[in-house]
Amino acid sequence: MKPVTLITGASAGIGTELARIFAAHGHELVLVARRSDRLNALADELAKAGHARPTVLAADLEARDAVAKIAAELSSRDLEPDFVVNNAGFGLMGEAATLDRNEQLGMVDLNVRALTELSLTFVDSLARHRGGLLNVASIVAFLPGPGMAVYYASKAYVLSFTEALHQEWSGRGIRVTALCPGPVPTEFQARAKMELPSAAKMIELPPDRVAQIGYDGLMRGQRVVVAGLGNKLAAAFMRLTPNALLLRAVDQRAAGMKGN
Ligand SMILES: NC(=O)c1ccc[n+]([C@@H]2O[C@H](COP(=O)([O-])OP(=O)(O)OC[C@H]3O[C@@H](n4cnc5c(N)ncnc54)[C@H](OP(=O)(O)O)[C@@H]3O)[C@@H](O)[C@H]2O)c1
Repeated sequence: MKPVTLITGASAGIGTELARIFAAHGHELVLVARRSDRLNALADELAKAGHARPTVLAADLEARDAVAKIAAELSSRDLEPDFVVNNAGFGLMGEAATLDRNEQLGMVDLNVRALTELSLTFVDSLARHRGGLLNVASIVAFLPGPGMAVYYASKAYVLSFTEALHQEWSGRGIRVTALCPGPVPTEFQARAKMELPSAAKMIELPPDRVAQIGYDGLMRGQRVVVAGLGNKLAAAFMRLTPNALLLRAVDQRAAGMKGN
């Protein structure tokens, strides 16, 4: 079977940039998201630039059978992942008790359930090709997030799960990396119904830079990659500060403090 890099959420933001970077390094791609028009446009762009044309798989990863369908589709095309990039994800701003419950559960299905299933489904082919797994967490994985509770918790799961896999798979030749971006201006903010506060501009990074940092960290076999110096300092501060203090400081419901 031919090895391919499977990238979720490639139709926008960080995922599109990850696709461009993996393609530039000679990886043949499978692009997954719901908006197939965007994925096809990206596939055309990459083919025009002289890379192999990516395979496009339109899928809603909140659906229970989505990963099984992707696995079946790949095997019917004689493809198997050497790298899996779990990038698709979204957040919602607001109090957990008042936000739509189904939408929040859908977030868990995407950010946690699909990511877990995609991480585990292809372990044998990742090992066979001595490839890797890149899971996109967030700097918010380091703290609880009142005002965005489910999103922060989902990213804490991604970080914890990915660090554990890094250890469990260390003898199998599979690189496993959690990428923790800080604020990145993408479609994320509109979907979450939030705006990046002006303070976030100081540590904001463009999506192509974040994707490059993630790619480099994965190829180096780093366990956790926090994107950018400002975010590294923020993450170190969060790790050292008691939650009782952090909770008050980061309360999304308080004046203008926004998550990412
Ligand atoms: N932007 C930030 O400030 C920031 C900071 C830290 C971490 N992150 C994380 O980085 C990752 C990428 O975010 P981004 O900023 O690039 O956001 P984005 O521009 O909104 O892109 C999100 C991607 O996820 C895909 N997606 C959403 N729901 C999906 C579903 N049900 N099934 C399949 N694909 C789905 C979207 O594609 P379709 O809509 O076409 O399905 C899109 O390609 C996310 O995991 C996010 O949590 C973002």
